[in-house]
Amino acid sequence: MRRHRLLLPLLMLAGAAAVVAARPPFACAPGGPATSMAFCRRSLPLRARARDLVARLTRAEKVRLLVNNAAGVPRLGIAGYEWWSEALHGVSNTGPGVRFGGAFPGATAFPQVIGTAASFNASLWELIGRAVSDEGRAMYNGGQAGLTFWSPNVNIFRDPRWGRGQETPGEDPAVSGRYAAAYVRGLQQPYGGGGRHGGHTRLKTAACCKHFTAYDLDSWSGTDRFHFNAIVTPQDLEDTFNVPFRSCVVDGRAASVMCSYNQVNGVPTCADESFLRGTIRGKWHLEGYIVSDCDSVDVFYRDQHYTRTHEDAVAATLRAGLDLDCGPFLAVYTEGAVSQRKVTDADIDAAVTNTVIVQMRLGMYDGDLATQPFGHLGPQHVCTPAHQELALEAARQSVVLLKNDGTALPLSRAAHHTVAVVGPHSQATVAMIGNYAGQPCRYTTPLQGIGRYVKTTLHQAGCTDVACQGGNQPIAAAVDAARRADATIVVVGLDQKVEAEGLDRTSLLLPGRQAELVSAVAKASKGPVILVLMSGGPVDIAFAQKDRKIAGILWAGYPGQAGGQAIADVIFGHHNPGMYTSTVSILMIQVGIEFQMTKFTKN
Ligand SMILES: *[C@@H]1O[C@H](CO)[C@@H](O)[C@H](O)[C@H]1NC(C)=O
Repeated sequence: MRRHRLLLPLLMLAGAAAVVAARPPFACAPGGPATSMAFCRRSLPLRARARDLVARLTRAEKVRLLVNNAAGVPRLGIAGYEWWSEALHGVSNTGPGVRFGGAFPGATAFPQVIGTAASFNASLWELIGRAVSDEGRAMYNGGQAGLTFWSPNVNIFRDPRWGRGQETPGEDPAVSGRYAAAYVRGLQQPYGGGGRHGGHTRLKTAACCKHFTAYDLDSWSGTDRFHFNAIVTPQDLEDTFNVPFRSCVVDGRAASVMCSYNQVNGVPTCADESFLRGTIRGKWHLEGYIVSDCDSVDVFYRDQHYTRTHEDAVAATLRAGLDLDCGPFLAVYTEGAVSQRKVTDADIDAAVTNTVIVQMRLGMYDGDLATQPFGHLGPQHVCTPAHQELALEAARQSVVLLKNDGTALPLSRAAHHTVAVVGPHSQATVAMIGNYAGQPCRYTTPLQGIGRYVKTTLHQAGCTDVACQGGNQPIAAAVDAARRADATIVVVGLDQKVEAEGLDRTSLLLPGRQAELVSAVAKASKGPVILVLMSGGPVDIAFAQKDRKIAGILWAGYPGQAGGQAIADVIFGHHNPGMYTSTVSILMIQVGIEFQMTKFTKN
């Protein structure tokens, strides 16, 4: 996603004065201009309702429905709609469809996905989806979110340097597929369908499996995702890259798939008919809409020079099977493409029908929200004690035990009255929620979590920030704390300044002087030393694995709002972590890995 971020501050300003006020109906409001029209009639099959609506629209009206900030059609009582909302691991304001503030100051922030995946617990994944679904629908009712969430990200995390690997369930196609289906089921909670009107189930929210396909590079050594051409064999697509997408659509019955920026074997995915019409609709029978990554169409036209004209780009993507453009491109150039006979009205109608049916499945054409199945959800259903407890439980299940010498872990509260808590993540807050996050209900930092178990904590960050660079790092103070304590817990790792969207890593080592801090503290410590890592991608910590003074090592991912509590619960034995089960842990203890660059081609 890019370029639209500037919109956010404006939307926030506009909404600052808003109070609890419920959203007016999107369409078909009682007493509105369309109540007697067929598209508002709840007793008709959805396809017939969509056909009726599309037949009433002018071409100019329809092309304004092909984009994420779809225009309203006031003469038919239809409001505008922002399609772009996000809910990767909690309702997120990464897209313009979600706004925090007023009655909805925050939402439950679950662990970043790479961590939750390490639980290998499909029922946990579905439970998180259900909680997020409640909160998202509640925020929609309050006018502060959409119902179409462009989550989950199920790209295969094959390249460990990828800045977005944290968002994914990892590298394993089978685990990723299971994750995709479970999370989507939780988010969408389909109901109804079948029977007299056939087919279409109703949805609580609509999920989206992204970004199809073979995308695991953001910016590396002169190539970025807008120019990346992934060279992939058919077998690799079939066995690896497409497996989670297939499961997302076939098993999870996701209402949407997003095509990516990159090309696969020389064709932009959003212009690839064999992918969109062939695989996603033809083989997997997607019931829903295909959306572009934001400005993908502009990217393959302008940055990749894939088509000669704007209108050719419109034709390439609509013919391939795209239904919705995140970005303004289709709203601007589609009418021109029709007059140049590059696309037909039938092409436009097919796309609009696919998006409208999803809105109908969400109840958006059923008039009054209050009378709908989820009309009761409101601010009291967000950040509930149950959801926050689930965020804590998910964080506990995310933690992976990488090393435990003898009986070092769990630490005993009786034997360790004074514990040094050091490291740049010892007081982590926002770093714990990773990217595609929102405003959490609250945070428990590692220092706070550990403080609940012991009499005295001696806190020293040891680094001024995660980069931990330069001569003035307060390492000596951390060493001193370790010398005085009965046990030492060192919390280190990465954050969004090191691995992020648009930012791949060039090294798998801990940043700056973090490793030096860890070794110095370990050397000085009189009690056991426990190393805790926060990261999305893998980190080479061979130095710590070999250090006999470091008795225990835990990986915590980016553990979400309750991360500090979960880490403390594991360290003090309230929860027993899994061993070596992270989808990234194996790489963490490898040394001197070298990568072949064969996959990266510049065009
Ligand atoms: C999976 O997570 C759920 C919800 O936290 C929990 O009740 C269950 O015990 C977990 N299953 C396993 C095998 O850990």
